[in-house]
Amino acid sequence: MSTAPSSVQFILDGEVVSVSGLPPSVTVLEYLRTVAGRTGTKEGCAEGDCGACTVVLGELAADGRTIDYRAINSCIRFLPTIDGKELVTVESLQGADGELHPVQRAMVECHGSQCGFCTPGFVMSLFALYLDLERGPQRLHGSPPEREDVIAALSGNLCRCTGYRPIIDAGRRMSEYPAPKHWSRDEAQSAERVNRLRALQRTTPQSALRFPGFHAPLTVDELASALQATPDSLLLAGGTDIGLWTTKHLRDLPPIIYLGAIAELQEIRNTDAGLHIVQVYL
Ligand code: FES
Ligand code: FES
Repeated sequence: MSTAPSSVQFILDGEVVSVSGLPPSVTVLEYLRTVAGRTGTKEGCAEGDCGACTVVLGELAADGRTIDYRAINSCIRFLPTIDGKELVTVESLQGADGELHPVQRAMVECHGSQCGFCTPGFVMSLFALYLDLERGPQRLHGSPPEREDVIAALSGNLCRCTGYRPIIDAGRRMSEYPAPKHWSRDEAQSAERVNRLRALQRTTPQSALRFPGFHAPLTVDELASALQATPDSLLLAGGTDIGLWTTKHLRDLPPIIYLGAIAELQEIRNTDAGLHIVQVYL
């Protein structure tokens, strides 16, 4: 592959973004607001509780042919951990002619926003539900998502002034609007998008993302070697604790070894003995 091991690379609005020279613990939110100038994504609690900072990450599925989209809290997600993924922010949803995405339209028409501070986060959580493939083609086309699905999708978002009923209504109504030209469910899975993401994948030890203070091995053997070489390293998985060590405790972190790029550590199997779970990244 052509990606330089030392630079974090991801897709944003159809372009490959290459970032180097930032500390390994810079969060996606800090990057968006202070480097990329994308201030639509808000900072509320900075500890993964309120959802104001929600963005959507697209990740190549295990079959290599589709993209899994999920909502994440950008305030506690370190930027290097989105290497090889697609980042979607609230700015990405606007169509070329200013057209609102159905999720945004539903929020407007259901009066789902008052002060608006929480709104980008709610929009992005609903957008992830909108793109959800399992429910999408079978359920959402022509029929609204179940209220429970909407509530589950919004379970990480807090609003202090609108109240949740109109926002849940928006979630239930978003599938009633015509598919947008930009970010329809089909377009989200287009061959172009899949190929762009595929081209960013790191497949050999030489191409693993590595720069001072950060290493993302690709196999368990590489992980063992990395730990042997730097035994004081910090193992990072989802970051729900470690993210707060930097945003709240302002701690300096030792070198980070990130576990999320190791396919062998992300597995759930149904065995005779029960569920066998090897998953460190959610
Ligand atoms: Fe509150 Fe991220 S700012 S969850
Ligand atoms: Fe004000 Fe939600 S609209 S906090």
